[in-house]
Amino acid sequence: MSSTLDFDIRLSERRRSTAEREAILADPGWGQYFTDHMITIRYAEGKGWHDARLEPYGPLALDPASQVLHYSQELFEGLKAYRQADGAIVTFRPYANAARMNRSARRMAMPEIPEELFVRSLELLVETDRDWVPTREGHSLYLRPFMFATTRALGVNSPADEYLFVVIASPSGNYYAKGIRPVSVWLSQDYTRAAPGGTGEAKTGGNYAASFAGQAQAVAHGCDQVVWLDAIEHRWVEEVGSMNLVFVYGSGADARLLTPALTGTLLPGITRDSLLKLAPDLGIPVEEGKISIDEWQTGCESGEITEVFGCGTAAVISPVGSVKGADRAWTIGDGEPGPVSMRLREELIGIQYGNRPDPYGWVH
Ligand code: COI
Repeated sequence: MSSTLDFDIRLSERRRSTAEREAILADPGWGQYFTDHMITIRYAEGKGWHDARLEPYGPLALDPASQVLHYSQELFEGLKAYRQADGAIVTFRPYANAARMNRSARRMAMPEIPEELFVRSLELLVETDRDWVPTREGHSLYLRPFMFATTRALGVNSPADEYLFVVIASPSGNYYAKGIRPVSVWLSQDYTRAAPGGTGEAKTGGNYAASFAGQAQAVAHGCDQVVWLDAIEHRWVEEVGSMNLVFVYGSGADARLLTPALTGTLLPGITRDSLLKLAPDLGIPVEEGKISIDEWQTGCESGEITEVFGCGTAAVISPVGSVKGADRAWTIGDGEPGPVSMRLREELIGIQYGNRPDPYGWVH
């Protein structure tokens, strides 16, 4: 496998004008607009990674028998490029995304991509489309690397032997259009996101496809997001929507965090991992463990649990304000964003935007 591929650079002749770009950047929404270019790299068994290109953003031509369209051999990543106060453009922990993509690849019987090639792809796209990195506070350029099976075959006895790796970029405002306000969540008893031995810890599209029915049910019950429980006992809290969950116990100098341990059915979030490292340095101890829905409810009712939030690259930290299930409902604290959640959010965003020192070497 080569990590020193030369990219064939094919610049777009139809780049958006400054005025068009600025109109988009004034109100980018989330994941709706894309920059002028994309990266594509092909893989074939025996040949490895080859034909690396930077090319104009546009539709991909796929054979209708491409394996991904039938058997969902696909994976993706998500990270952001930030414009810092001094004008530098950085990404956050791109090697962590590369490593996770390769862990996902092993589970999905797909080829691993050399980490250097993955990161070089991001750098090249961001360098080329640097004018698309928003300057507005809290906005960023969301990078979406993904890979899928292109082999033309309907046989299901073996993984594909040809793949396409692509990176696209999308200028992004806040993930939640209404800004930071606590979300209400629905405890799904009808659907599960992931079972032991399944693909829960891989960032593969099928996990998200399987989540839409549960999410629709949450909305039908008047909630913003769905909470996923374990698939065996339907009792242990795993994730919220597409985010990891963090529980805050106590307050002030006594605050501590608990997040469900990575048992194989949870996505190993990079924001989660960053908070596990950051919080203790801020004097907030963290524990990876287990929490049941009963413990969540009684903890909130006794006041022991003071805040709960979801965390992920897209939304960063998203406070949970209330919980509803078929036979129960409760609120968390006063239902407003809590000080620990907001402090952690501030500190993490501070590192990403260069307003805080980065003792961890996360900024690239
Ligand atoms: C994230 O929180 O970054 C996610 O993975 C959500 C994404 C699928 C939009």
